[in-house]
Amino acid sequence: MTILVTGAAGFIGFHVVRALLERGEDVVGIDNINDYYDPVLKLARLERLQHPRFRFRRVDIAERQAVAALAEPSLDGIVHLAAQAGVRHSITAPFDYAASNLVGHLAILELARALPGLRHLVYASSSSVYGGNAPPFAETDRVDTPLSLYAATKRADEMMSYAYAHLYGIAQTGLRFFTVYGPWGRPDMAYFSFAEAILAGRPITVYDGGRLRRDFTYIDDIVAGVLGCLDRPPSGTPPIRLMNIGNNRSESVADLVALLEQGLERRAVVVDAPRPAADVVETRADVSAIAALTGFAPSTPLAEGMARFVAWFREWKDGRFSDALAGPAMSPGRRPAG
Ligand SMILES: NC(=O)c1ccc[n+]([C@@H]2O[C@H](COP(=O)([O-])OP(=O)(O)OC[C@H]3O[C@@H](n4cnc5c(N)ncnc54)[C@H](O)[C@@H]3O)[C@@H](O)[C@H]2O)c1
Repeated sequence: MTILVTGAAGFIGFHVVRALLERGEDVVGIDNINDYYDPVLKLARLERLQHPRFRFRRVDIAERQAVAALAEPSLDGIVHLAAQAGVRHSITAPFDYAASNLVGHLAILELARALPGLRHLVYASSSSVYGGNAPPFAETDRVDTPLSLYAATKRADEMMSYAYAHLYGIAQTGLRFFTVYGPWGRPDMAYFSFAEAILAGRPITVYDGGRLRRDFTYIDDIVAGVLGCLDRPPSGTPPIRLMNIGNNRSESVADLVALLEQGLERRAVVVDAPRPAADVVETRADVSAIAALTGFAPSTPLAEGMARFVAWFREWKDGRFSDALAGPAMSPGRRPAG
């Protein structure tokens, strides 16, 4: 069984590839290793994925011929995670979202269409599609009021996927991720950029007095949910479904800051600011659908997950992973914390 993972050098992609390799799959990973955040982190992740059953290709999913050339009959699953992520960046660089999230998603759908043996395409959507809805968010809620272009592109992906499931019978699951965090995480996300600023003694900007709430989901719980869904392609008509994948509780940004202060043993210098229009007040996932399908049961409390992130982050900042750029990966002694 060969699985194609797009965004393999990214945060979630890295962890998903690692889990697939660990359970014995052959994996083809693609990524364009763009510089939305420091590519050194992406390359370090890739170095740690070196494995006889892992092949990596540098491909931009917005280049449809390059994506079409990935069609090989042995592919029976796709986990499509490559995207231009981030809510706020979509205000300054909207066309990056059109290229990666709209054209790129379509290129992956066309690839799936060219693979008659493909069992399942699992793709990343986002909790941001719920816009200003009142939590908890359920898959049956109306989602036609996105608060950012990022959210609008993710919702568009869901629509395009529906059409392809209807027209061509491509079995698909769209996963609405809720604020994923953990070791090897994303430097543009608040928990990571806060940790960097706190360690450097720089102020952090916290919106609305830290009262915004997020359903923070630890990466290991996410990976378990992604693989659980990948193993269970939908068989309805059309063969498609959407799944929330979150921690099923919301915690305040103020609590997050306190946990980071505790882990880093430093006080944060907090600058308060009003909530930007693209940021929602609260996210909280109803996860009953994915729980019923896969037994998904997120088990990592924020305090524990943040402690694991901070342990990894300190090592990363100390350069203790710089050897990752030179040596073989996947050896037990070189795993990140968590
Ligand atoms: N992390 C979260 O909290 C979160 C929440 C909701 C949704 N998501 C979605 O989950 C997916 C994975 O997110 P992540 O946190 O791992 O982000 P990430 O930015 O770390 O990973 C995405 C990867 O895709 C690659 N990529 C971007 N555009 C590409 C293109 N045109 N061609 C090829 N590769 C490209 C990037 O280089 C990056 O390595 C994304 O689709 C994201 O929108 C993530």
